Order: sequence, then structure tokens, then C-alpha cells
Amino acid sequence: MTEAPTTVFIGISGASGAPYALRLVEVLAARGCRLSLTISDAGLRVVRHELELSGSTRDELEVEFLARAHADAVCYGPTDLEAPVASGSSAPDAVVVCPCSLSTAAHIALGTTRTLIHRAGEVALKERRPLLLVPREMPLSSVQLRRLLEAAEAGALIVAPMPAFYSRPQTVAEMIDFVVGKVISVLGFPQDLFAPWGGATE
Ligand SMILES: Cc1cc2nc3c(=O)[nH]c(=O)nc-3n(C[C@H](O)[C@H](O)[C@H](O)COP(=O)(O)O)c2cc1C
Repeated sequence: MTEAPTTVFIGISGASGAPYALRLVEVLAARGCRLSLTISDAGLRVVRHELELSGSTRDELEVEFLARAHADAVCYGPTDLEAPVASGSSAPDAVVVCPCSLSTAAHIALGTTRTLIHRAGEVALKERRPLLLVPREMPLSSVQLRRLLEAAEAGALIVAPMPAFYSRPQTVAEMIDFVVGKVISVLGFPQDLFAPWGGATE
């Protein structure tokens, strides 16, 4: 992947890891990306809990999330299959599902599209656009590992959130930045969110 994307669809599904999604949206917006966003129903519950948001409706939570991320994004509901990103004719340059539940990963791998996040992933694969899945589950069953392998074989990039320690993180924010730095690096952006191996001080 050489050219960084201008338009990015971000799907937030119902896996733990809302702080990754928040920081990713913040970082991509700061780099000038035009963002569209869908939070699944389960994702909305996780986002509300993990980010300690106060809103009670979807609209309120989306507004609060974007304000926290200092970002603008066009938000689509999880069943809005008429959204532009549902069509290859207006597909975004890249799709990132972060965090990606193993349920959503399985739907994308199997082509059993039920939601706009699944559809955006399916479109990215058929249009040969970058599709990054940031799956979180522990431990992973053989069923889940097979679905991730199938997604990777179909062209998805599996960017599992596994922070490394060679950059010597001191805070949770630094560990989040390691994962988000990896995501944007895979997308084709230069990343300055963590010190690369060899760049850390002794
Ligand atoms: C608080 C909470 C945390 C969850 N964490 C995970 C997780 O880390 N990974 C995962 O695959 N599923 C997790 N789940 C289960 C998914 O949310 C569930 O499979 C859901 O149906 C996924 O739907 P979605 O992919 O459309 O968001 C969690 C659910 C809740 C309520």
C-alpha cells in the first residue's frame, strides 16, 4: 500500500477497544481524511461503557464520541444499507473495522452481510480496496481463527491490537497509540505515534 487514503469508512463493532476507535478517528481527522462512521448496536453499548459517555440515544452518543475525538464524520446507522459506502460505485478509499468483533469478522469472511459494517467490508474486498480488521478476543477459538484466516485470504489485513513494549510505553494512552500507529501505518500514513524499533532511547 503506497498512497494514503483520502476517504475512510470506520466501523466500530461490539468488541472491547473503544479507546482505539476514538484515537483512530481523532488521528485520521487530523490528517485530513474525510470520514464516514458506523457504530453497530453492540458497539454503541461498548463505546458508551468504555469511554464513559453520558448520552442515551444513538444520536447523542455519536455527537459525544465525535466531540471527544475532535473530528467530523458522516454517521450512518448499522442497518442503513442505502448509505453510499454500501455501493462499490462510491466506495471509500479504505475501510477499517476497529474494534472488530469476531462476529463481524466472521460475517465479512463468509459474505453473510447483515449490517452496513459487513457490507462496507464486503465492498472493500470486491473492489480490492484496503480493508483493515482490528479484532479483539482472547483466547481465540479455532472457529474464530479460521474466519480471520479466510478474511485475510480474501484480502483483508488483520491488524490485531497487540501493543509491543520496545517503545517502552508508560501510560495506557501510549499503548493505544502503538496500536493506532500501526493501523495508520498499514493504511499508508507516516506514523509518529510511537518510536519505532531502533528509535527508542537506551
Ligand atoms: C461489553 C461487551 C464486550 C464485548 N467484547 C467483545 C470482544 O472483545 N470481542 C468480541 O468478538 N465480541 C465481544 N462482545 C460480543 C459482541 O458484542 C457480540 O458478538 C455482538 O453480537 C457483535 O455484534 P457486532 O459485530 O454487530 O457489533 C462484547 C459484548 C459486550 C456487551
